[in-house]
Amino acid sequence: MTALDARPRTGTMLRFPEAFRWGTATAAYQIEGAAGEDGRSPSIWDTFSRTPGKVRNGDTGDTAADHYHRVDEDVALMRSLGVTDYRFSLAWPRVQPTGRGPAARKGLDFYRRLTDRLREAGIRPVATLYHWDLPQELEDAGGWPERETAYRFADYAALAADALGDRVATWTTLNEPWCSAFLGYGSGVHAPGRTGEADALRAAHHLNLAHGLGVRALRAALPAGAEVSLTLNLHAVRPHTDTPQDRDAVRRIDAVGNRIFLDPVFRGSLPDDLVRDTADVTDWSFVKDGDCAAAAEPIDSLGLNYYSPAAVAARTTADDDAAPSGSPSPWAGAERHVRFVPLTGPRTAMDWPVDAAGLYELLLRLRDELPHVPLLITENGAAYEDYADPSGEVKDPERVAYLRAHLEAVHRAIGAGADVRGYFLWSLLDNFEWAYGYSKRFGIVHVDFPTQRRTPKSSARWYADVIARGALTD
Ligand code: FCB
Repeated sequence: MTALDARPRTGTMLRFPEAFRWGTATAAYQIEGAAGEDGRSPSIWDTFSRTPGKVRNGDTGDTAADHYHRVDEDVALMRSLGVTDYRFSLAWPRVQPTGRGPAARKGLDFYRRLTDRLREAGIRPVATLYHWDLPQELEDAGGWPERETAYRFADYAALAADALGDRVATWTTLNEPWCSAFLGYGSGVHAPGRTGEADALRAAHHLNLAHGLGVRALRAALPAGAEVSLTLNLHAVRPHTDTPQDRDAVRRIDAVGNRIFLDPVFRGSLPDDLVRDTADVTDWSFVKDGDCAAAAEPIDSLGLNYYSPAAVAARTTADDDAAPSGSPSPWAGAERHVRFVPLTGPRTAMDWPVDAAGLYELLLRLRDELPHVPLLITENGAAYEDYADPSGEVKDPERVAYLRAHLEAVHRAIGAGADVRGYFLWSLLDNFEWAYGYSKRFGIVHVDFPTQRRTPKSSARWYADVIARGALTD
């Protein structure tokens, strides 16, 4: 008997709103494979994963979960779960291989096929334009630290909307620009693997600009009523102790982790404290008049990705003496003043703390700060050490417990007035987990990569049941 089975049953039923959107989420490079097919060009992730030492076991997305060839099967799986929505991403290097010029017909055909199958299954397509796979040619021209990349993105958005605008319900410009900027150009643990604090801040700004220009391009091409969105991985940051110093550490991380995107996108300006905090890194002269206003092009909803919270404290000289030398920080300008304090308690296979209260905290903050912006949880889920038992079953009670706790938090936040319209579970399938390769499994459907056999885990059956009832039950 698992701890989960042992929970006392109370007969409680937490009902979600009637129109609540129940989804699963994936991203192109993590599942599609077919990396060299039908005119797709390399992206920064192809280059990065081929660079020795960057991805665990030397894994690449060459084959991934072979979704490119298994669309019918994967949509049928989703239909059997009863999801109402499916969040996926378009591979920029498949749709517009060099990052410039015309679209590749075969690339678009793939997404036409996928969206046709989804619509036949009664599942709403939710497409993200950029989930980290920048065409390598654009990186060779400077990547996100260069302003030109934002204009390239707007052209790509226009072309994607022209081709698929009649069939995609919700468009998301960017997935987690924080990761693109700060893991890609700051700490270098993600593609393209560059390390420079100023470049990371430049990248963040140009991602904001790309978002705003992208929204404008989408609106021009999409039918009225299309939903346009952005997905952020907002950080739930808590002070280690309730001292002014630790609260100031929270302020710094909030500035470079959250408000660096929230303020341009929803207020049309950069946070003053961020500009001050980073004065020794950059003078921000790459920000041109009108950029932040362009970033603030109105959107219809905000996507929130949430996995776990963090705690921070002010860094002291003693910490500096104890600090291990070496790896570059993603927190441009902040980590000289801030120390991350490990949280205790249960953790996932990623070593991420399990703490659903962080999701509740973020949703209440968004309720208060952006009361008129509908919210979608565009990612939430957990990696565990899943395996098929001798009977072929994959039992993942820890994932069920994680999902239940987080859905309870969402339910509680809705009760407290947060306008949450949907929840997308990360992820439908086990997949290529970026720098961790295939070593981390987030799927509710197990993938045996050598055979590509899909086996729904017990969490998939649990989620299907939640969706069917529109409620969490004990
Ligand atoms: C998010 C990414 C997603 C996935 C999860 C675990 O940061 O958007 O692609 O890798 O983490």
